[in-house]
Amino acid sequence: MTFVVTEDCIRCKFTDCVDVCPVQCFYEGENMLVIHPGECIDCGICEPTCPVDAILPDSYPEAQQWLELNRKYSLEWPNLLTAKPAPADADEFQRVPDKYELHFSPRPATI
Ligand code: SF4
Ligand code: F3S
Repeated sequence: MTFVVTEDCIRCKFTDCVDVCPVQCFYEGENMLVIHPGECIDCGICEPTCPVDAILPDSYPEAQQWLELNRKYSLEWPNLLTAKPAPADADEFQRVPDKYELHFSPRPATI
């Protein structure tokens, strides 16, 4: 069991989740975060901190499709240890559908 970040995070990236994770298992792409499934201890603390409900336990059917994405990019993107300001246009992307198809970036975050 792990928690996963879903496409609702894309271009929102509020990072509230990062500050509560006891094992620091969030990794940062250009416009979303992912969770390392092997590092997550399944505590669930991060889930209610996300303003757009982007974090789900992998036991939810709708979370399954994001598990491999979390696994893959947590190995490629840098570890994010503390929260940072959200993108300036983050509010415009809340609750927008189909963000993976339209807006996902496989690039790692740039410092
Ligand atoms: Fe971190 Fe717990 Fe969220 Fe897993 S469930 S990412 S360990 S806060
Ligand atoms: Fe993304 Fe929500 Fe965390 S928008 S960065 S999963 S607080």
